[in-house]
Amino acid sequence: MTRRWKSDLTEADVTPEAAWLNRRALIAGSVTLGALAAAGGARADTLTPNTLDEITHYNNFYEFGTGKTDPANNAGGLKTSPWAIKVDGMVDKPGTYTIDELLAGFTPEQRIYRFRCVEAWAMVIPWNGVPLASVLDKLGVQSGAKYVAMESVVQPDVMVGVRQGVIPFPYVEGLRLDEAMHPLTLLATGLYGKPMPNQNGAPIRLVVPWKYGFKSIKSIVRISLVADQPPTTWNKIAPQEYGFYSNVNPNVDHPRWSQATERLIGGGLFSKRQPTQMFNGYDEVASLYDGMDLRVNY
Ligand code: MTE
Repeated sequence: MTRRWKSDLTEADVTPEAAWLNRRALIAGSVTLGALAAAGGARADTLTPNTLDEITHYNNFYEFGTGKTDPANNAGGLKTSPWAIKVDGMVDKPGTYTIDELLAGFTPEQRIYRFRCVEAWAMVIPWNGVPLASVLDKLGVQSGAKYVAMESVVQPDVMVGVRQGVIPFPYVEGLRLDEAMHPLTLLATGLYGKPMPNQNGAPIRLVVPWKYGFKSIKSIVRISLVADQPPTTWNKIAPQEYGFYSNVNPNVDHPRWSQATERLIGGGLFSKRQPTQMFNGYDEVASLYDGMDLRVNY
């Protein structure tokens, strides 16, 4: 396959590359991960996906509770079939689509992405999905549309966090249209080649790898093409802490903690903190933010 982005890794790429880096490190002896990062733009520890168990047992999905294992424990009852996605706003083909209808004509791709939560933990996740841009192109975005707004499902009978009202629901998120159209932005329907686990946002969720994880809205039931910047859940709850853009940025701390480093989930005894990368390492998006002051939390 042609590699358009350095992040276009497949599982087939990953193992040999990680082995190669390890061999290099062993041969060189004193080669540090930092030196490898400088040389290759990728760190050995970010090339190996987290295990399925880690990815499905350390989650944020407040509809199912606020604890990290709550989604794994409580999301079993999520009703994912049938699933309807409403498409509305400034679009040529509005309507209510099944996932098959929405994704018809596209072959899901595997994307192994770094995933960075605003809480300063990180994972590497092998997603399956379709670029959001492909779907938006098919739907026909009209010229007045400047943003994409998305909404998560609400099923109070099976969502303990909704019944308890831990935050306002439905969970809503949004992107500027050029961010939504960026080839890295994925509508994900699975991980590790399997259908999306409920706790990770079944049956379809957003993945925006250069932004803090809360932008990656789960269990999507509505996609709206709109003219104005849409409200987003965490920005509504605490605007001084969570901006609309929320790009991963080691130089802008959260008001209550540092974003300079991150804790890589997994690895047992070898679990460690590592430097946070600007745009989570996805430098190819930098030009989207030309003219914006990267020392500010937008
Ligand atoms: N989407 C919905 N609907 N509800 C949520 O609570 N949490 C967000 C995001 N999407 C959330 C959501 C946050 S804070 C993160 S870090 C990621 O989902 C976590 O995704 P993961 O559990 O698949 O790692």
